[in-house]
Amino acid sequence: MTERKATLKIDHLADPIELPIYSGTLGPDVVDIGQLVKHNYFTYDPGFVSTAACESKITFIDGDKGILLHRGYAINQLAEKSDYIEVCYLLLNGELPTQAQKDAFLHEVTHHSMVHEQISLFFRGFRRDAHPMAIMVGVVGALSAFYHDKLNISDPQHRMSAAIRLIAKMPTIAAMCYKYSIGQPFMYPQNHLNYTENFLHMMFGTPCDNKQPSATLARALDRIFILHADHEQNASTSTVRLAGSTGANPYACVSAGIGALWGPAHGGANEACLTMLHEIGDVKNIDTYIKRAKDKNDPFRLMGFGHRVYKNYDPRAKVMRETCYEVLNELGLQNDPIFKLAMKLEKIALEDEYFVEKKLYPNVDFYSGITLSALGIPINMFTVIFALARTVGWLSQWNEMLSSPDHKLGRPRQLYTGHTDRNFVDIDKR
Ligand code: CMC
Repeated sequence: MTERKATLKIDHLADPIELPIYSGTLGPDVVDIGQLVKHNYFTYDPGFVSTAACESKITFIDGDKGILLHRGYAINQLAEKSDYIEVCYLLLNGELPTQAQKDAFLHEVTHHSMVHEQISLFFRGFRRDAHPMAIMVGVVGALSAFYHDKLNISDPQHRMSAAIRLIAKMPTIAAMCYKYSIGQPFMYPQNHLNYTENFLHMMFGTPCDNKQPSATLARALDRIFILHADHEQNASTSTVRLAGSTGANPYACVSAGIGALWGPAHGGANEACLTMLHEIGDVKNIDTYIKRAKDKNDPFRLMGFGHRVYKNYDPRAKVMRETCYEVLNELGLQNDPIFKLAMKLEKIALEDEYFVEKKLYPNVDFYSGITLSALGIPINMFTVIFALARTVGWLSQWNEMLSSPDHKLGRPRQLYTGHTDRNFVDIDKR
């Protein structure tokens, strides 16, 4: 915090308003506009493009330089040297764990991975063709009805228990969403498998044929989990914080986050990207779709390209691109038509003037969609996997907010442009 002040001069006010300026450890300084309301002014910033909604120590992004740090560690280092469980510990606790801390954390997560048996009956209320995200929103929201023993959100231990339960159960619930849709029996988690292997086992194992998941593919998926673990104050995280600011329970907050993540401008982009690749269908059609993406009168956008914050290569996309190529090579899929099409599209868009000028680089969802598809994950499960991986970020941010002694109910204001006061007109006179 500094003594610096911004001075706001407003035409009809005799005196300028002085507003404090704060500096963080990295990133732009912020002007504290909290006092403006006393002068009868609000700020107006649709889409929150210039608004810092909170103070946080968890994740830092420099979109111009393409930097992403979790608790100070660069994402590429974490993806290369760490694993998802360690990143979860780091995000939640602020420091990398010692071996003993990591073992204890993994033990806790592993031993909370089963869901209450009654939850499997809850699934049966859904149609088999329901989108897995629709099921996940409902099932996660319903968890508070099953785990209400530790729901005192003012108690840090209760908050950590809820976080561990959710991190542990998300792979189980995600796999159940898939198994339900294809009519196969739910698979119980296996404690001897690591977090990601366990997810693959619950997704692809059956009681008749329960093979050990491939270590290479599990590692690729673990990397996808790391790359999606947190991303500062994005739409779903802000949703979780806003829901959490009301005192709502963590299961309800995460369910709200899942809902926000679902949209194609956010986590739904990986699914939308693969759907788009199938729609383009052939390399010979790419030009038509590039033209459509550039046409102001056509709502079509190239899914998996562009980002609100990154106006440089998304550092997650750099790592994901490598993993994507590794997986395609490992599985001998380099010549698969859809992957060839994706690679061609990537090349054309990276060289096209429109995309270069607007700094629309392929984002993490472009490569994660292709990688997940190569791993045999059905398209409608992509955003579910994003939600699974992002759960730790949501809960770390939620926990940070509730740990702060001066946290407040989130309540934005508005610029009202509707009717002024008018008299009610009886129905026969309208
Ligand atoms: N294809 C074609 N044109 C685009 C695209 C795209 N994918 N993205 C942005 N533009 C254009 C847009 O039309 C606008 O042009 P103009 O300045 O002439 O009006 C300009 O680029 C700036 O776009 P914007 O919509 O004002 O920027 P934004 O920051 O609001 O949008 C975005 C960010 C991610 C919503 C957008 O790039 C997009 O819709 N991308 C496709 C969806 C996608 O891949 N989303 C995943 C984001 S990464 C995952 C995550 O972190 O959630």
